Amino acid sequence: MGAVLAAVCHVLYGERLGLLQDFVDPEAQRFIDAVTLMFHTTSPMLYLPPALLRHLNAKMWRDHVWAWDAIFTQADKCIQNVYRDLRLQRKSTKEYMGILCSLIMQDKLPLDDIKASVTEMMAGGVDTTSMTLQWAMFELARSPGVQEQLRAEVLAAKREAAGDRVKMLKTIRLLKAAIKETLRLHPVAVTLQRYTTQEVILQDYRIPPKTLVQVGLYAMGRDAEVFPKPEKDGG
Ligand code: HEM
Repeated sequence: MGAVLAAVCHVLYGERLGLLQDFVDPEAQRFIDAVTLMFHTTSPMLYLPPALLRHLNAKMWRDHVWAWDAIFTQADKCIQNVYRDLRLQRKSTKEYMGILCSLIMQDKLPLDDIKASVTEMMAGGVDTTSMTLQWAMFELARSPGVQEQLRAEVLAAKREAAGDRVKMLKTIRLLKAAIKETLRLHPVAVTLQRYTTQEVILQDYRIPPKTLVQVGLYAMGRDAEVFPKPEKDGG
């Protein structure tokens, strides 16, 4: 997870981070733990009203708030470092600047919105990517033939793209399919939630407006009516 966090931070903040560079950095670990706790305490709150938990000052609520505070504090440190570098003009336009820097320079979004979005992206990038990678490795360990094909595809794509990342992303079809299959079998988001705005009629069901609807991604990915051999790769 440390490596994934470092990669996400590189994309968001660019090279000169001055923080989170060391994978065993206790601050990085604290951030990862906070994201994990935030996710763990979010799931029960889909069923138990957060307002009630807040009123009772339940441990789950306190943990949730602590987790978001820790996430924002850590993201804020990274953001401050980028501000400082920008002010001191330490960043050269030649090196990769990071999403945060380019959003500030474009000057189109209010700073608070930039900060909120960057914090969300920093939190969103950790568990999702590291869990998917772990499951992908688990599935690939069972199919060594696919491993070889993937390696060959990535090497060929690298050669052909010659540094053009967009071009490379367009050619790695097998890798994309492997990630999609991993997410079908082991979806990071087990369910998706939405509130309906208007009445929905689906065959035998009538869903009233303002109803919380959960889409069971895990169950759907393993439904034999949709995937003939749901337990198998490429099912
Ligand atoms: C395998 C990887 C990932 C999966 C399966 C995934 C899944 C999802 C899903 C299902 C949502 C929608 C949740 C909802 O609205 O109900 C979501 C939203 C979001 N994800 Fe991811 N995600 C992944 C990786 C990432 C990464 C790498 C980042 C950031 C670097 C990220 C940042 C976000 C953000 C910021 C949102 C909120 C978007 C919005 O509502 O405006 N996610 N993700």
